[in-house]
Amino acid sequence: MRFRTRLFLILSLFAVIPAAVLTLVWATTLSTALPLLSGSGAWDRVAASGERAIATMRQGPLTAAQRTAIGAHEQELTSSVTEARRYQYLAARAVPIVAAVAVGAMVVLAVVASRVAGHLSRQMSRPLDEIVGWTEHIARAEPLPAGPPSRGAPEFHVLRGRMRTMAGDLEVGRSRELEAERLRAFRETARQVAHELKNPLTPIQLAVARLERANPPLSPDLADTVAVLATEAARLDTMARSFAQFGRLPEGPPADIDLAELVRYTARATVPSGVPVVVEIDPAVPLVRGHHDALARALANVLLNAVDACAHTAAGEARISVHVRRATGTATGTATGTATGTAAPMIEIAVRDTGVGIPAETLDRIWEPYVTNKPGGTGLGLAIARQTVLAHRGTVSASSRPGDGTEIVFRLPVATA
Ligand SMILES: Nc1ncnc2c1ncn2[C@@H]1O[C@H](COP(=O)(O)OP(=O)(O)OP(=O)(O)O)[C@@H](O)[C@H]1O
Ligand SMILES: [Mg+2]
Repeated sequence: MRFRTRLFLILSLFAVIPAAVLTLVWATTLSTALPLLSGSGAWDRVAASGERAIATMRQGPLTAAQRTAIGAHEQELTSSVTEARRYQYLAARAVPIVAAVAVGAMVVLAVVASRVAGHLSRQMSRPLDEIVGWTEHIARAEPLPAGPPSRGAPEFHVLRGRMRTMAGDLEVGRSRELEAERLRAFRETARQVAHELKNPLTPIQLAVARLERANPPLSPDLADTVAVLATEAARLDTMARSFAQFGRLPEGPPADIDLAELVRYTARATVPSGVPVVVEIDPAVPLVRGHHDALARALANVLLNAVDACAHTAAGEARISVHVRRATGTATGTATGTATGTAAPMIEIAVRDTGVGIPAETLDRIWEPYVTNKPGGTGLGLAIARQTVLAHRGTVSASSRPGDGTEIVFRLPVATA
């Protein structure tokens, strides 16, 4: 039986049964009491004893005044008895009318009660049915249906609102969990690839080194071949390091880091001398707390991308600028980048280049591992950078206009005492 039907039956029973019982009680009381109210039985007995008394008195000698008084009393007795009988007659006739009124009242009550019960059960069951339907959507991880709420008691608006908020939160949690799960899988693959690359690579590099030092020296032809081998082995080595890094979070105890020094040094060490780079650092930038080498590697990855992006721009137009300044932002709580919600003082490192830029459809995906458009690229540079910044409770963002250049921004929370 549907919830609405059950509710309707329960409400109807609660209204109809007491009403029916009360109607029966008052109808029975009224029809029993009405004939008694006329008092005709008592009047009959008074009339019989009165007639006997009058007859006895008339047998004795009476004065004229006594005779008149007895006559008047007899008349009064007769008219009172007649009146009482008339009342009794009317009362007896009223009983079926009372019964009919009672039945009528019961029918009217039943109709009113069923209307009210129907209305109430609809008011309750419609929103409840809707919300039960929503729970099925939530269980199947589907979005809640849009559109106006079903009609019903206004109190359900709050419940509906809360359900929507809860479903939204659940969806966010679910997608975060998926993202974390995907990252875990990526890291595991990266770790294995790094391991598999490293094992054969070390003997290859040793062999190449021996060939390079061979005595007597190799013929120019063979020396070229060995040089190719050495270059490719070095590239594989870099790749293996990237894979290994992606699998690891920064290790060791955190320390206070002077970002000004870190940025100046990394820019000098990473950007080739042919590419102009400008470093602007606001005065009195506070320290951040974390892992110096990991952050330097993250920044180097971004700078190397900027150098790559500038490689094909016209000579004289290639320019990289790095700006370090104070900012406010929302520190993240975990390595998955969950915002903790409160605005906190942060330091921003913004790397801007005048390179090729990133098409809008790729911009969202550049932080994902293995997303690359470079031959020989691992697509891990930005993934490692993001992983490092998130591990420092910071945030990353990117903006770009194809043809104009790109800006990559890291925000790191200021070290607290
Ligand atoms: N400054 C930039 N300008 C233009 N495109 C960029 C820039 N930074 C990143 N990208 C794009 O994002 C992709 C991912 O970058 P990421 O550093 O993760 O990997 P990669 O540079 O391709 O590979 P690797 O870092 O291993 O050399 C790049 O292939 C490139 O398409
Ligand atoms: Mg890169």
